[in-house]
Amino acid sequence: MDRNKIKKDYNEKIKNLLRLNKHYYDLNKPLVNDHEYDQIKADILSLEKKYDFLESVNSPSKIVGFKPSKTFLKVLHRVPMLSLSNAFDEEDLVNFEKKINNFLDQKSLNELEYSAEPKIDGISASLIFKKGKFIMGLSRGDGKEGEDITNNLMTIDDIPKNISAKNFPDEIDIRGEVFIQNNDFENLKDKFANPRNAASGSLRQKNPQDTKKIPLKFIAYTFGYVNNMKIKSQSNYLQQLSEWGFKINPFNKTIKGIKNLMKNYHEIEKKRNEIDFDIDGIVYKINSFDLQKRLGNVANSPRWAIAHKFSANKGISKILNIEIQVGRTGALTPVAKIKPINIGGVVVSNATLHNEDEIIRKDIRINDTVVLERAGDVIPHVVSVDSKKRRKESKKFIFPKKCPCGYETIKEYNEITKKFDAVRRCPDRGFDCDRIAKEKLKHFVSKEGFNIEGFGKKIVGNFWDLKLIRLPQDIFNLNYKKIESLDGWGKQSVANLRYAIEEKKNISFEKFVYALGIRHIGFENAKLIAKTLKNPEKFLNLSKENKVDDLLNIDGIGETQITSLKKFFSNKTNLKVIKDLQKILNIKKTLENKTDGVLSEKIFMFTGKLTGMSRAEAKSLIEKNSGTIISNVSKKLDYLIIGEKPTKRKVDAAKELKIKIIDQSELHKLLNKSS
Ligand code: IVH
Repeated sequence: MDRNKIKKDYNEKIKNLLRLNKHYYDLNKPLVNDHEYDQIKADILSLEKKYDFLESVNSPSKIVGFKPSKTFLKVLHRVPMLSLSNAFDEEDLVNFEKKINNFLDQKSLNELEYSAEPKIDGISASLIFKKGKFIMGLSRGDGKEGEDITNNLMTIDDIPKNISAKNFPDEIDIRGEVFIQNNDFENLKDKFANPRNAASGSLRQKNPQDTKKIPLKFIAYTFGYVNNMKIKSQSNYLQQLSEWGFKINPFNKTIKGIKNLMKNYHEIEKKRNEIDFDIDGIVYKINSFDLQKRLGNVANSPRWAIAHKFSANKGISKILNIEIQVGRTGALTPVAKIKPINIGGVVVSNATLHNEDEIIRKDIRINDTVVLERAGDVIPHVVSVDSKKRRKESKKFIFPKKCPCGYETIKEYNEITKKFDAVRRCPDRGFDCDRIAKEKLKHFVSKEGFNIEGFGKKIVGNFWDLKLIRLPQDIFNLNYKKIESLDGWGKQSVANLRYAIEEKKNISFEKFVYALGIRHIGFENAKLIAKTLKNPEKFLNLSKENKVDDLLNIDGIGETQITSLKKFFSNKTNLKVIKDLQKILNIKKTLENKTDGVLSEKIFMFTGKLTGMSRAEAKSLIEKNSGTIISNVSKKLDYLIIGEKPTKRKVDAAKELKIKIIDQSELHKLLNKSS
């Protein structure tokens, strides 16, 4: 790769990191989780290692955190506030110890003594004491220069303001972590993503009175500048801190040897959910201050300390309860209510247990201690159960045979797999089951459905609980007077809501069909039905005239959809919903597609990214010219249009069937033949 391109790439990455830093440190609204952030940083550092011509004043090898914001006065740290390098497994720890032994030129490899301290995930602060008086407190800022947040720190009860102990140094800058306990975070969770952000946000309030309202805690663990201190080791220093009146971490330990560090690591990881503050790893520090001094620092972290991080996407916690949620199609999904735990920067309090079979297979029970995994944006799930932690009186979880609406549930038999479904369902009772009805209403207002501005899932939930809505038609007959009197609503917001609802009385036929939430009728099928029937009247008549089977002629509609539609039309409430809605709404007829365009009777499919136009635009262009788009390679296909990075499997399949493969410019040529 050429040098300029590498430089450009590198600079882009630095720019991105600065943006992430600003959101994290300055705005308290992180854009990515801690794990992703670490990866981005590691990526930059590895580039710098590989190409020595890469350099930036903003490189993570040069800066710690983000420049302090302008709201507070900046003050230089007398001794910089460093960061720690990370270890993720035993091998990293072995290497860490080896390097230390090499540096100290120890002839025989000694088992070193460490102070092992759970790493609190909060905000570090530096407290300057002169003659026993707390005179100034700084945030870390960029490590060199912090912000003067003295007045805010003064509001924290855990910070002693006057220390009269005889052995307290004349001048010392005591450092530690400001944080919020998990139980206190409960009341703040609507405002912040996790306790760390809550602590950072509260600590940097302009008005200390606002900081005072938040129950911030402080735990001390190190020092910066100190004048005249006789202590010889970290463990003695921690002990001394406690005697001076500071809180220290109750799980701190002095440990010799990597094997014992690992043992402690696993023990603490298991205990993590019992501790009432977030920890994201264990910090190991060489215990002897003499050795620390000899070892010194590399770049911006000490050679004598390392942070052994917990897994970024797994955590251990306890199941407090198992609740049964009912989905729009009647599926009963068991959900575990979890003792909240921070996994990779996200507080997890729910985990899906998938279905009854999964609970039986893993023998998951209420009060069990479990390993949870959170990957990407999907709902966390239970990986395994620690049955050793179970109490004798623990009982197997019995999956309810009834839906919370009172109806007996069923497991459907699948004709194709010749097996019963793993999912238990409230039989397709639609709006007659109040659990299903609530979910169906959420679906009704969803993006591809009525998509009413300001009327999302949350409002459906609220209005449902207040008995303002039970069926879709109720949305168009709301009691606006009542809504105006509700908390959080006013004249203007009600007027906006009313306007948004009125606006959606004009609706396309396909959206209408989709919004009804008929099982197995997704947006594509709804489109096919609307395209075939054209007149919405005919939809209601399908049931009257026993014509549902006619839809079988539509390519894409199969037995499953037909059975589901018949079931839908056999329910009286559903028929009433359609009838009432047809009276209220103006459901637009489906416009005839032009069939005489240049691409008439031609069938296309895309693979890969197009240039200069989106897939949606290209699709609409083809459809405007009477062409059809499909999404699977089949004999019917006339052209496979390939863009950048096409899927090899699709291209191979097309070649096999001798289908013409064209690129974007050839598509344009086909289109231009018309003009
Ligand atoms: S020692 C040079 N001890 O972890 C030593 N740090 O990435 C640096 N932290 O900024 C600090 N618990 O916010 C130390 N027991 C502990 C800690 C701890 C949490 C945080 C602190 C620091 C970061 C290092």
